Amino acid sequence: MDYKTLLREIENIESLPTLPGILNKLLKVIENPRVSLKEIGSFISSDPVLTTRILRAVNSPIYGFPGRIATINQSLVLLGLNVVRGLLLGVSVFEAMKKAMAGLWEHSVGCATAARLIAQKIGLKEPEEVAVAALLHDIGKVILGLKFPQEYRQIRQIVEKEQRFVLEGERDYFGVTHAEIGGWVAQRWHFPPGLVEIIDCHHQPHLARQAPLMTAIVHLSDILVRARGFGYAGDPFVPALNPQAWELLNLSDQDLRGILNELEDSLEMVVDFLVLE
Ligand SMILES: [Fe+2]
Ligand SMILES: [Fe+2]
Repeated sequence: MDYKTLLREIENIESLPTLPGILNKLLKVIENPRVSLKEIGSFISSDPVLTTRILRAVNSPIYGFPGRIATINQSLVLLGLNVVRGLLLGVSVFEAMKKAMAGLWEHSVGCATAARLIAQKIGLKEPEEVAVAALLHDIGKVILGLKFPQEYRQIRQIVEKEQRFVLEGERDYFGVTHAEIGGWVAQRWHFPPGLVEIIDCHHQPHLARQAPLMTAIVHLSDILVRARGFGYAGDPFVPALNPQAWELLNLSDQDLRGILNELEDSLEMVVDFLVLE
């Protein structure tokens, strides 16, 4: 399939019957770059299911405010518009994620948790923003899995037999990977440029220009969560750690050990959160 045809197919993602109806409305809100906190707040609050999911997510171990956020407005103030925008999409596509690939939602939530822990260790000002980026980093897999279910299943069967990364199978078949597709869609949804780049470059973090540190964090999260065997990202392998990203992160062995210990505890709590979903 050539790239143009592929993108044209994906353009129609909004009309996908498998995505929850709320997503259509949500995309309109997200697509408007001038949307205010208040508008987002009232949009979320008008939908009880969405409200419950957002509150459950912001109080989950992913964000590190367990049990402390009672209202949507409080979430918006504490986490900021960009985080809540990303989160909205994350919680809206979680059913789609489950449908696209078993284990992908768990992988994504695991990565969000790991990303927050790494960001905190590094001392980043807004660890929640990185967590949302990590939650959405494999959104391209959701899109490919929903838009081309048969082909994507076949790709996964082939790479499983050949013991290769699903990323390589995507490149063979589509000419691009889920990372590029995810970045392209995120751009179309007017996500902040940093977030677009993190999604686009999470497997090639050395190419990031706008948000290289956050991209490196998401890259490492993906590796840690795969190494831990939490969730499933399409293949059972652990990608190589990009040396430039590792250098940029500037973590000591002790830091990394600390992160892994905290991750272990957090993932236990995450499992409880996932069961509730
Ligand atoms: Fe990925
Ligand atoms: Fe991933």
